[in-house]
Amino acid sequence: MTAVVGAQWGDEGKGKITDYLAQHADLVIRFQGGNNAGHTVVNEHGTFKLHLVPSGIFNPNALCVLGPGTVVDLAGLVEELTMLEGSGISTANVRVSDRAHLVLPYHVALDRLDERERGRQRLGTTGRGVGPAYSDKVGRHGIQLCEVRDERRFRERVAHELLTKNAILERFGDAPLDATEVADVVLEAAARLGDRIVDTLPLVEDAVARNARVLLEGQLGAMRDLDWGIYPYVTSSNPLAGGAAVGAGIPPRHITRVIGVVKAYSTAVGEGPFPTELSGPEADRLRERAQEYGATTGRPRRVGWFDAVAPRYAHRLNAFTEIAVTKLDMLGDYERIPFCTAYEIDGRVTTDMPPTAMLERATPRYEHLEGWGCAITAVTDRALLPLQAKAYLRRIEETVGAPVGMVGIGPERTATLL
Ligand code: IMP
Repeated sequence: MTAVVGAQWGDEGKGKITDYLAQHADLVIRFQGGNNAGHTVVNEHGTFKLHLVPSGIFNPNALCVLGPGTVVDLAGLVEELTMLEGSGISTANVRVSDRAHLVLPYHVALDRLDERERGRQRLGTTGRGVGPAYSDKVGRHGIQLCEVRDERRFRERVAHELLTKNAILERFGDAPLDATEVADVVLEAAARLGDRIVDTLPLVEDAVARNARVLLEGQLGAMRDLDWGIYPYVTSSNPLAGGAAVGAGIPPRHITRVIGVVKAYSTAVGEGPFPTELSGPEADRLRERAQEYGATTGRPRRVGWFDAVAPRYAHRLNAFTEIAVTKLDMLGDYERIPFCTAYEIDGRVTTDMPPTAMLERATPRYEHLEGWGCAITAVTDRALLPLQAKAYLRRIEETVGAPVGMVGIGPERTATLL
């Protein structure tokens, strides 16, 4: 079983790597997060931005599961399935855990309210209601998908939850929500999904028993992990491989391969410390060249040089069996490429990731690696990459501590070197 997880701030290109590996998978599972994700997949069917549906959807033989660790905006999911079906992609193989929690319209309203009221301390969330949905889950106010099966009770639950939610919304000057409308939206979407809402544990158990090829698709990256990331600028779940076991319902010992996905430089959307961040024309150059805009929100991504401290830390937490480096082609026109190997914090040099309050004071220590100064997208064999590009990959391996198993040199599935 293989877990594909992000080793930086998110947006590492996990969608592309999962799509590549999913060609030979029997089961692909999302184990955390919701439609805050934005996984861009470019293949023979076109270009897709997936938010909830696992990137295995393009393999008609793979079952695509949203595990109990995810939070699901059912109307959003139906919209995504309709978009895929409109492009001729069958969604018959999608299954959603009946234990997953619902993201309801009041979670979206509370996400936006919370961000607004934080003012300058805002987190920069995607505004998809993911944080409030997980808060309700942890606070034992969440509503699981299975609850839509009993319409009367579901409507009562929504009305009850709205008593406190609406009081908060009104206290801060926002419009209250109507319980009937909220329930209607969800019930209608649930009806569209029909019997695709299931207990996913037997599916996973069956896959384990058959020794089937299972892919666990992470969202976001280690730096946004609830426990290990740059709290409070984190998401409300665990994107680490450890989270995959719980969120998918897979006993941890079955996960034998963990692929850490790293972009050849760094990007982030949302707030929080990002030591190698560029600004001004240098940032614009990389952002435009690499088209770094959020797949979910369209926000311009913050961009910076490769920061080995973050994926090294991610490796300590995930024990990567290999790294997949994405977007190496985007560094093609630099003569010398700054590469951060350590931080200086209060006069001390460290290669360890400190907690947020200290990371905010970190300045990056750079080496300068030679650029290759040419396009590499047409390269078909890793051995044929320019020497400098190979040296760049070697430096990633040395500083992170795990071998590079895959290299992305273009957005298409085929632009992947092993
Ligand atoms: P939330 O997950 O919407 O609550 O946002 C929390 C933090 O994670 C914010 O900094 C978001 O910008 C970031 N984030 C959430 N989802 C993604 C993603 O798919 N890619 C990159 N960043 C994300």
